[in-house]
Amino acid sequence: MQNFLFRRGRVIDPARGIDQVADVLVVDGRLMDIQPDLKIGMDWLANVHQFDMDGKWIVPGMLDMHVHLREPGEEYKETIASGTRAAVAGGYAGVACMPNTKPVNDTAAVTQFILEKARQEAACHVFPVAAISRGLQGEHLTEFGELRESGAVAVTDDGRPVMNSLLMRRALEYARIFDLLVISHAEDLALAEGGLMNEGPISTLLGLRGIPNAAEDAMVARDILLAELTGGRLHIAHVSTAGSVRLVRDAKKRGVPVTAETAPHYFTLTDSELLSFDAVFKVNPPLRSAEDRESVREGLADGTIDVIATDHAPHSLLEKDTEFEYAASGMIGLESALPLVLELVRCGVLDASKAISKVTCNPSKILGVPMGTLNPGKAVTLTVIDPKVDYILDCKSFESKSRNCPFHGRQVQGRVELTLVEGKIAYSRS
Ligand code: DOR
Repeated sequence: MQNFLFRRGRVIDPARGIDQVADVLVVDGRLMDIQPDLKIGMDWLANVHQFDMDGKWIVPGMLDMHVHLREPGEEYKETIASGTRAAVAGGYAGVACMPNTKPVNDTAAVTQFILEKARQEAACHVFPVAAISRGLQGEHLTEFGELRESGAVAVTDDGRPVMNSLLMRRALEYARIFDLLVISHAEDLALAEGGLMNEGPISTLLGLRGIPNAAEDAMVARDILLAELTGGRLHIAHVSTAGSVRLVRDAKKRGVPVTAETAPHYFTLTDSELLSFDAVFKVNPPLRSAEDRESVREGLADGTIDVIATDHAPHSLLEKDTEFEYAASGMIGLESALPLVLELVRCGVLDASKAISKVTCNPSKILGVPMGTLNPGKAVTLTVIDPKVDYILDCKSFESKSRNCPFHGRQVQGRVELTLVEGKIAYSRS
């Protein structure tokens, strides 16, 4: 039975300007009505699952536009099945998956493989993001038209920057023809060379080679100039520095077609975590200073940063539990993001509606995918959140195959209760 009645939920749908306590009726998996105090006949009620929401939030199914699903090729870290199970447990009804798989998603065949696998095994929507350059080698562009036609929603060489400025220019020009988004992993490899963490007093103290903010800022500046030159749609991935925030803010003011995302670890943690020498805190770009974290929060608050994505980057114990220098970069995030987003609401950085927009309508608009709002008459995709519940994050209970979670053991508030994807229960906590 796919009939649900959610009583007295706080319905937050930023795309439609809704933030009110209301009842939500779903019939045959379709959203029929959102209204305060819906009147429903007794005969009907027998056929409906009733949920007393008591102020719990009902939001459009969340979308994470930056996820590494690792399939094909590194299924020991994550698969399309396990990664999407982690997604729905974290409240996400859709994920965009990065192309640094093995093989790289640089052909229509790999994109189609991902979509076919997702059709068979995924717990939520999967939107493939294809590579900008063949094999992520930064030399030859991939076939954007074919990739678009086979279902890719954007292109990126994420995990690596496109160092060749001419190739990036051509990518932005070529992407325009197919209305593809170009996602920039902004890192100047020469400046970052050999770096293991943020460059600053803590890297000096630890004697670890640092990555300066300028490694990110220089490439953000370059890519903004190229977006301005070409008119191509540019999206800056995983913003971590004050400089990037400033550059994107100024570019937006000038009307450059640029958007940006950050991840919970950049607005929550700083490079002081590295004092533990624990490689769970090793990530690229690296955790930055407290000033950078503050700027990222300001960027979220004033709308410079449109999206909160997780950059869910699963790695096995083999790659993480080793000497810091040799450990892989990356953190999982799908099952810990929501309470950290809610922390921003509790400490007044964002109001509830703005926070929800950064995980629903903003990423769906940027990617151009049909999610992000509660559409009456359509198969319903929504997330139910209990914003009040206190608990300790325990990555041992996660659906993800990997355990590289920097928030393990953290006291948090707010949890996903239910994720509905296209009218069906994809995740239920009870
Ligand atoms: O830390 C990171 N890990 N940063 C990236 O850009 C890639 C990711 C990965 O694929 O592991």
